[in-house]
Amino acid sequence: MINLSEVEARAAARMDAAAWGYYAGGANDEVTLRENRAAWERLALRYRTMVDVTTRRLATTVLGETIDFPVMVAPTAMQKLAHPEGELAMARAAQACGSLMVVSTTATTALEEVRAAAAGPMWFQLYIYQDRGATRALLERARDAGYSAIVITVDAPMLGWRERDLTSGFTLPPHLTIANAVAAGSGHSRLPHGDGEGSALARHLQALHDAALTPRDIEWSHDVTGLPVVVKGIVRGDDAVRALGHGAAGIIVSNHGGRQLDTAIATARALPEVVEAVAGRGEVYVDGGIRRGTDIVKAVALGARAVLVGRPPLWGLAAGGEPGVVEVLQHLRLEFDLAMSLSGATSVAELTRDLVVDA
Ligand code: FNR
Repeated sequence: MINLSEVEARAAARMDAAAWGYYAGGANDEVTLRENRAAWERLALRYRTMVDVTTRRLATTVLGETIDFPVMVAPTAMQKLAHPEGELAMARAAQACGSLMVVSTTATTALEEVRAAAAGPMWFQLYIYQDRGATRALLERARDAGYSAIVITVDAPMLGWRERDLTSGFTLPPHLTIANAVAAGSGHSRLPHGDGEGSALARHLQALHDAALTPRDIEWSHDVTGLPVVVKGIVRGDDAVRALGHGAAGIIVSNHGGRQLDTAIATARALPEVVEAVAGRGEVYVDGGIRRGTDIVKAVALGARAVLVGRPPLWGLAAGGEPGVVEVLQHLRLEFDLAMSLSGATSVAELTRDLVVDA
């Protein structure tokens, strides 16, 4: 593999057009989608020289669990749209690469099955449902299945206006279900068909998800599970501090890959403010537009413990199932290793703030 764009093209060629639009698209004019990428590119590396980089250590820890390099698999919905093995293939590939998968509430495979597919650590991403009984049931299932952290997504009280899905009439094919919603007894395991306001996915979310999510839900999720809670979708220092004040163990700086509020700040620009506000009181991660080893170097240098990638593993899954995801993650690892070496660093601890400037 030369780069991830190559896998993206292979995935696009293999997937149904509407499903591809759902994976690839962003909200409205897709300004944030493009800016996420551009903002990493705009940062310049003040690399060090005359450092012996013959031996390097890429590993780090996230909430105490070791990962082989600072890349995790972001929660993405409906992975069976990419490949029949969906979330199971993703889980095995993440484990094979020493990464960590965050499993989406909106998966097309039940959370217990995904958890059982691989031995490595996994986190469960939670959407808070209006039905708190159903939400509690999901949390208890995640705890009992052996997930080691809960990731609460806070940037989707309503679904962004995704024009590609509205145009294509995107919906889940009849043979697939949103498996966790079935078990939670919501009766909304299939996306609705036919006319109505917004896309089928938007109507599904409107019917289920709670637009009244507050920081108290962080404490509640921790109380129900006893697990550390990570809050995903934050782009401001004050929000990060509010989340920490209600018990969050970590913050994911994210704008949902440009799929929610269009023209939202790019995550590369938001990261330094959040790192400063958190001031070491929790771990900070970042996602959105990470496509190159140099992006990972910049994110870690700016204070992220690790990054997450959303679309690239989906491309790998669509292009080649489990081995396709392995190829994507291994390629990112290779690019990161090279970029770290050429930056004059031999471990993630040596990726410090002074390496990055605004170009
Ligand atoms: C997502 N994302 C997402 N986030 C989340 O918390 N729960 C979810 O179910 C989903 N589903 C989802 C589906 C698809 C198709 C995409 C592309 C994204 C957002 C995801 O976790 C992550 O924040 C972004 O994908 C990161 O940006 P990149 O790496 O895709 O640019």
